[in-house]
Amino acid sequence: MVASLTSEELTFFKRFGYLIKPAALAPEVCEQLLERMWESAPASLSRQDPETYGILPEHEWSADPLRTISKDKWQYRALGTEPLLIDIMTQSALFVWAEQLLGQGKVRRPTLGGKPMGHSGPAWPGGPVDPQITDGARGIYATLPNPELASAEDGLHTDGHPFHFGVVCLLEDCPPEAGAFKVWPGSHRRFQPLFPMPYDQARVPFYEHLPSHKGLVHPDAYLAEVKRVETDTPPVDAFGKQGDIILWHHRLGHMAGHHKAQSRTIRQALLFDYNHIDLDRQRCQPTPQDMWTDWSAELREANTALTPDFLISQRLPQALYET
Ligand SMILES: [Fe+2]
Repeated sequence: MVASLTSEELTFFKRFGYLIKPAALAPEVCEQLLERMWESAPASLSRQDPETYGILPEHEWSADPLRTISKDKWQYRALGTEPLLIDIMTQSALFVWAEQLLGQGKVRRPTLGGKPMGHSGPAWPGGPVDPQITDGARGIYATLPNPELASAEDGLHTDGHPFHFGVVCLLEDCPPEAGAFKVWPGSHRRFQPLFPMPYDQARVPFYEHLPSHKGLVHPDAYLAEVKRVETDTPPVDAFGKQGDIILWHHRLGHMAGHHKAQSRTIRQALLFDYNHIDLDRQRCQPTPQDMWTDWSAELREANTALTPDFLISQRLPQALYET
């Protein structure tokens, strides 16, 4: 029997836009996913030899959207609709929690054996892959140690595709500052009203003969708020143990953490999104005053005092307790 999210957890998710849940996936499930992931490893990496965990040689880089390899990242998307991943999305505790957030019977189900993210190439030439164009998960993303990032600054973004909330599952232990997802608590409430559309972000079409202007349009008010959030809000590093997960709201500021190479580890994470079955209608509405209007009654009504122990368990910086 899966333990439901508590009213305190739901209240926290609304207020701060994320929720860390330790040990949400069983170790044996994580190990099976890691086995699959390593079948797609760049040749210079040896699972048994952490000395090989580092910057990848340029001849191994690949722009293939189904298996993207760059200097310090290896992202495998081709497996996104395989049974193991679809089972996690639909049969595990995570689906129970997704239904708590969006409503019973309101979570769009992925399609076993469907098309994975990346099958249709990038969203525009030279652009990123669109995570909404998948019948399953985003895939498994690995971040390698990169000593060049030892003093790199954190910087947030929000995702430009429509969805409701994302999930990042750590498949292996991941220490602090080693590539785990980072979030800016509470930023979802500040960014949400700044977009004219409740889920989408406007895009400029790509024309081959007019190549300079393309991709996502960032409203000025949004860019100014990004700067303010980066200045006044310390991010939370969602490091953790194998099987730990984080749920995060679609308008929450976040980043794939820098792996500062203080440890010979690879951040391996399964990523996917949950969507409401009615997203096609919801995305056509004007941005609502009440940002939870499309979510479950249970979530909307959650209003519980947050205990100090709980806030500590979520690693919320003390400066944000009263925000
Ligand atoms: Fe993102």
